[in-house]
Amino acid sequence: MTQSYKAGIIGVGSVLPEKRLTNSQLECMVETSDEWIIKRTGIKERRIIDETVPLYKMAAIAATRAIEDAGLQPSDIDLIIATTVTPDYITPSLSCLVQKEIEAANAVAFDVSAACTGFIFALQTARQFIENRTYKNILIVSAEALSRATDYKDRKTCVLFGDGAGAAVLGTVEDGTGIESTIIGSIGSKGDVLTLPFLYTNQADIQNRNEGKTQVIWMDGSEVFTFASRIMGKVCQNVADNVGVTMDDIAYIVPHQANMRILQNAAKRLNISMDRIYSNLENTGNISSASIPVCIDEMHSKGLIKKGDKIIIVGFGGGLTYGASLLTWSKDD
Ligand code: UT7
Repeated sequence: MTQSYKAGIIGVGSVLPEKRLTNSQLECMVETSDEWIIKRTGIKERRIIDETVPLYKMAAIAATRAIEDAGLQPSDIDLIIATTVTPDYITPSLSCLVQKEIEAANAVAFDVSAACTGFIFALQTARQFIENRTYKNILIVSAEALSRATDYKDRKTCVLFGDGAGAAVLGTVEDGTGIESTIIGSIGSKGDVLTLPFLYTNQADIQNRNEGKTQVIWMDGSEVFTFASRIMGKVCQNVADNVGVTMDDIAYIVPHQANMRILQNAAKRLNISMDRIYSNLENTGNISSASIPVCIDEMHSKGLIKKGDKIIIVGFGGGLTYGASLLTWSKDD
């Protein structure tokens, strides 16, 4: 039998912080209501990282779980790709900090920056290295401490975001399973609708934010909403068309968790029922690039995806960026 060089997910892991921030707590912080938040977003609570814990520690927990789930040791990992918009440091990168923490001494480590679509961009990058036989085992770790970049005086954003980390190990999988088709895209010309400045700020960045506090997320919510609602359905349909399957062949769509109404709009466009659109938004809020791998790990733990099932993961967010990948699940239960 010839060796397959098809790339697929062989291990998953995730972690959410213990501390919860509920809608009723937010009611005491800004002029909002539990009713508004649930009706307009679907979110009830988010998890918040302890202020003494660096992001890389949370990322390392998710990474370790994914490596164990793959039946590997950290020393087996050839490449680590990390994604985050809230790194502890610009350098060392999150991937290098995770490498040190988990003692993956044989790995090369770098970060990919694509905001909420980061996991899909990392997956597409990792896939190339496996299929061209450069690396065998690749760890993708997506971790976010968005509470550290949220303005808790801005009701338009502070009700949305939470913290968490998810990871996946990619390796070679049986033919007929693995990553079937991926699309990634960027619309840099529209990037100013969702920003998180770091060392430089322009006048618009300052004007959009409260009290000159610039290192926080600002978003033109309705612009991002319209973009996300349109792109999610379109890109899911495109990856299915690339493989020659219809939505009836898809067990689950696993979207970036930004707003329940975005998921409902996309479901309508795709003519697919909401029970095949996985969501944990109610309990996590939006955790940017971590949201998709956290969902995949939850679904795997709950036994919702079986070997041979087709799923589409789909993301959209800052950049603007978007992407989707159709996977045939390769793991046994
Ligand atoms: O992860 C990256 C991708 N991110 C997304 O996809 C997020 C996309 N955007 C959204 O999810 C939604 O646009 C939001 C949830 C951010 C906002 O919901 P919306 O229904 O689009 O509200 P809006 O911004 O159009 O605001 C409607 C009203 C405004 O009041 P006025 O001006 O009509 O009096 C807001 O001030 O709702 C008000 N509002 C709130 N009211 C109570 C905005 N936020 C709140 C709030 N509580 N938290």
